[in-house]
Amino acid sequence: MEYVRRHGRQIRVLETHAGIESCRYQDPLTIARDQHALQTPVGRVWQFNSPQEVYALVDATVDFLSRSLLWEAGTLHSLEWSLYELLDNVFQHSQAPAGFFMFQVQAERRRLSFAVADQGIGILESLRGSKYMPSSALDAITLAVQRGVTRNNETNMGNGLWGATEIAARSLGQITVSSSGSAIFFKRERGDAITVPRVGVLDAAWPGTIIDAQIDASVSVDVATMFGTLDAPVNLRLENLEDDAGALVVDVKQMRIGAGTRATGESARLHLANLLKASERQLVVDLSGVGIVSSSFADECFGKLHKQLGPEGFNARVAFRGVNDAVNVVIRNAIAQRSAA
Ligand SMILES: Nc1ncnc2c1ncn2[C@@H]1O[C@H](COP(=O)(O)OP(=O)(O)OP(=O)(O)O)[C@@H](O)[C@H]1O
Ligand SMILES: [Mg+2]
Repeated sequence: MEYVRRHGRQIRVLETHAGIESCRYQDPLTIARDQHALQTPVGRVWQFNSPQEVYALVDATVDFLSRSLLWEAGTLHSLEWSLYELLDNVFQHSQAPAGFFMFQVQAERRRLSFAVADQGIGILESLRGSKYMPSSALDAITLAVQRGVTRNNETNMGNGLWGATEIAARSLGQITVSSSGSAIFFKRERGDAITVPRVGVLDAAWPGTIIDAQIDASVSVDVATMFGTLDAPVNLRLENLEDDAGALVVDVKQMRIGAGTRATGESARLHLANLLKASERQLVVDLSGVGIVSSSFADECFGKLHKQLGPEGFNARVAFRGVNDAVNVVIRNAIAQRSAA
């Protein structure tokens, strides 16, 4: 739509319904205008206009995912890496002025779906000048998802698309790469790939690229094994939380989710549980500046986490900091009640 409008045409949607309109496909959100929506970026179409915006969007997405799904070790970190790569590819290769991104979560199935799209030159055109000389769009896609294949060996590694398909495969998910008027649907765990030689495009000169993937959070993806002898990407998200003693510090106030309801308690618990799975380190929950927490928040977050880990597990891995007397009473009561239940 953005492409058609940019070329001076108008679009009118004749029949629609509120459910589909709420994802804002007709008027995508932007980082500049809709900063407030980054707290809950799910279920909306985002337009990103620069590499800086890629950073803000992926950061907000991974924060949100850490609060809304339980991720087995390594999977969220690999996904984060892969999202940066896929969104950045739009500026590296597509020649389109902007890209589009959307994700959805299916909490019961612990699944994430996301799509990254641009209306750029497509993978075939991008690889045309390279040593690979693909003869068709399907050829180009097949090449691009291989490790080390890039249009430019000097500036790029050729890991982005390979990594994304690899993560989808390792997490028993799936991924479709649609570009230059063809598409391949990869289901690598079964070794399957379905090819679609002809997909309709608006303008053959700007056929674009769409990556559409499903990732299963209940399967662990070991980044180190995936990268083999290469250096695995460092988990900056975890490193940023480390204090001088090497513990991971979660500042509840900074999470800006509030500490009043069951829903926010569940978000906070998922986030803590994800950190415990992703790292062996001790977790310090910093409640400085939090005047009071509700009993339902405390039960949902700390009561349930305590129950899941057991008293020894909890005490060995989770510590509190900056807790005032009122908050302390609420948390201790919630833990005691949940353990007795
Ligand atoms: N959105 C896109 N539009 C057009 N071509 C693309 C797009 N994404 C990837 N490509 C093509 O596919 C090739 C492989 O992409 P991939 O992300 O795997 O590696 P890379 O971007 O070249 O290297 P790096 O690992 O450093 O990101 C690119 O070199 C480019 O030719
Ligand atoms: Mg890339």
